[in-house]
Amino acid sequence: MCGIIGYIGEKNAAGIIYNGLKRLEYRGYDSAGIATLDEKKGIQVKKDIGRVEDINRKLDFLSMDGTVGIGHTRWATHGWVTKENAHPHVSNNKKIYVIHNGIVENYQGIKSMLQGNGFNFYSETDTETIPNLIEFEMRKGKDFEQATKDAVKQLDGYYAILAMHEGERKIVAARNGSPLVVGLGKNENFIASDIPAFLEHTKTVMYVHDKDFIVLNGNYEVKFYSLQEGREVSRPIHSVDWSIEQAQKGDFDHFMMKEISEQVETVQKAANQDESTLFAVANAIKDAKGVFFVACGSSYHACLSASYIFSKIAKMHINVILASEFSNYEDYLTPQTLVIAVSQSGETIDVLDAVRAAKRKNAEIISIVNVVGSSLHRSSDHALMLNTGPEVCVLSTKTYTAQLAVLALLAHTVAGRYEEGKARLKYLWNIIYNLTSASTRDHIRRLADKLKDKEHIFTIGRGLQYPTALEAALKIKEVSYIHAEGFSGGELKHGTIALIEEGTPCIVFSSKETEMEIISNAMEIKARGGYIIGVNSENNEIFDFFIKTPDVGILNPITQIIPIQILSYQLAVLRGFDPDKPRNLAKSVTVK
Ligand code: AGP
Repeated sequence: MCGIIGYIGEKNAAGIIYNGLKRLEYRGYDSAGIATLDEKKGIQVKKDIGRVEDINRKLDFLSMDGTVGIGHTRWATHGWVTKENAHPHVSNNKKIYVIHNGIVENYQGIKSMLQGNGFNFYSETDTETIPNLIEFEMRKGKDFEQATKDAVKQLDGYYAILAMHEGERKIVAARNGSPLVVGLGKNENFIASDIPAFLEHTKTVMYVHDKDFIVLNGNYEVKFYSLQEGREVSRPIHSVDWSIEQAQKGDFDHFMMKEISEQVETVQKAANQDESTLFAVANAIKDAKGVFFVACGSSYHACLSASYIFSKIAKMHINVILASEFSNYEDYLTPQTLVIAVSQSGETIDVLDAVRAAKRKNAEIISIVNVVGSSLHRSSDHALMLNTGPEVCVLSTKTYTAQLAVLALLAHTVAGRYEEGKARLKYLWNIIYNLTSASTRDHIRRLADKLKDKEHIFTIGRGLQYPTALEAALKIKEVSYIHAEGFSGGELKHGTIALIEEGTPCIVFSSKETEMEIISNAMEIKARGGYIIGVNSENNEIFDFFIKTPDVGILNPITQIIPIQILSYQLAVLRGFDPDKPRNLAKSVTVK
């Protein structure tokens, strides 16, 4: 996720912003920039790719003049990692400077309209439309504040925006979906995507609500307007007594639970793909002679789910191969083969080796990846980005559901049902909000209390619920160290059922499509003393513990894993382990 910070006060803005950006580095980024406003020298801008410290060594951020400024660390979504794509972005008249966290969904339409009105663009980003849209509105005679309000109202999607205008000692800001918080100081004020950016200066904060428009004036007044209500509003003032690290986790004790909760937004961000790239990938799939998904771990489970989704939605068969096994298929590959490598880190050595094997046969490479500029990203012909921002916890949670969202949208696009896929994913917002709510977490905590001393936990599912059962078992064992195994419901009788004893817990993933058969599998386990945990849209008398997940059909893999992500987290905490750093595990397996 991008990091943004603004400062207005009596001190040198560049120094405060530089330190603030470093406090936001945990959010992950690949480029950074600062703009400062000095009454005599006007607005200065410095930006480049790389780490904040390295850019400072090269461009000397700290020499910038002015007591007002905005700064940004960019996590690339639209456009490659280049200096031109780094923020701040400037309007054609060189008077309006903007930094932005989020995605402008309708930027292509806005860009065309502006180009039709004589505007030129110099970056690949969606953000560059914003300062030019403000300039376009000011050309109609509006002042900077009104022009920015009217420009923001035209944006679809998520955004946290800071803007400055040459000659005006103020910062204006707007929020919809992406975080923004104001810090109140003595003769100085701050605004940032996260409290750590200014926590060393003030612990007095005001949280910005969606559709709020804020003005940090030169006389240190802070004004909040609601774009929804069309009037000035007041927001409560809070005092936070966090450490810096605590502030990075927000209200959560660990990054794992924070990132599980972020899935309300990250599934939507994953669904918001660059359409030209998405359709190009869909065409590559349709044109290929043989398509392979290649991945490891949770990413492999996402691909396994996708193979069912492609079969049902696109009537296509896609081979799913563990990356570490892919070289055994090398002789089968041809230049007409398409390999879709799925990896959140883009650095997993087994995936990179598989891609190298595919390239030896001139196969086409598509990657679905979270880190722009990663090895996998750079070695693919096309890439679809997960847009989740960095995943700090070693476990894959938000990136797993983001992979599922991208793959489901891709399957719908291949089938000529893109808009339907977008709509189905948009529908998940409320469901994921409820599945990550405090009441759901409390309900699952009661299950965690029952399971925390168990030696074995089994998970079963059929059809689309089978890969979910595999992912559930991986989550539980890798963070709580309880032995957990996932099975297809149909495989139980072929051996595993010998392991079921009195009280053996089994998590049963069910859906309208598979309920009949999977419930009979559950009854076989129950008859041998098993403790049945049902994950389903409806309760059943066979379930000893029930977790309700509304049936969303083909997208059940996204929603049904979330309660078990929470269960895994709670088991780890109850058993005294750090869920963010499980023993023996690395965030990216870069060695064989
Ligand atoms: C996720 O919880 C696991 N820690 C692990 O299986 C991970 O999914 C796997 O290593 C693949 O990582 P990648 O997506 O970065 O390639």
